[in-house]
Amino acid sequence: MTDIKYQISNITVRNAVASDLDAICAIEAASFSDPWTAQMLLDDILNPITYFPVAVTQAGASALPNASVVAYADMSIAADEAEIRSIATAPAYRKAGVAAKLLNALTDYAKLNKVSAIYLETRKSNKPAIALYEKQGFKRLGLRKGYYATPKEDAIVYQLVVT
Ligand SMILES: CC(C)(COP(=O)(O)OP(=O)(O)OC[C@H]1O[C@@H](n2cnc3c(N)ncnc32)[C@H](O)[C@@H]1OP(=O)(O)O)[C@@H](O)C(=O)NCCC(=O)NCCS
Repeated sequence: MTDIKYQISNITVRNAVASDLDAICAIEAASFSDPWTAQMLLDDILNPITYFPVAVTQAGASALPNASVVAYADMSIAADEAEIRSIATAPAYRKAGVAAKLLNALTDYAKLNKVSAIYLETRKSNKPAIALYEKQGFKRLGLRKGYYATPKEDAIVYQLVVT
């Protein structure tokens, strides 16, 4: 089988809208052992304190049908702190720089909104996510024991000081 490689230059970032929900739910289901419901995702898309960008393929650039939304990220802001609640890339589009592009969008948004630090948690075993965050400059703050369910696992807490 031929491996499909996608060009990061064909990917753009825009704010999610409610009609992206099906595509976002499909990425969510393919990415997590304990996926959020469509209602939880929609609540965040519509929440004014949440920045929820999606990465989309340019029209006609995708070889996959109905694959215009290929990744999403979800970050909430309270006072001068932000929390990345979720980030995921559709399996066929991974390892092409898409999540890094979304993380840059989150950081730019945080700077524009006078955020001083961005926080997130990830499963201790999630090597792709750990590599992604550390490459983007996030620093480990500590562990939250038994933070995740399904399966139960510790979380590593990360912080990025926004300058
Ligand atoms: C983690 C995840 C979002 C990364 O998305 P992605 O679009 O494939 O990431 P990128 O291509 O932008 O990768 C950027 C960097 O992250 C690291 N990285 C990403 N995937 C990796 C992998 N499978 N193995 C090792 N490093 C990886 C690399 O340093 C990479 O840079 P490089 O390609 O120059 O080496 C994706 O694997 C995913 O959706 N996983 C399931 C959902 C999830 O776990 N989300 C995080 C929850 S905390």
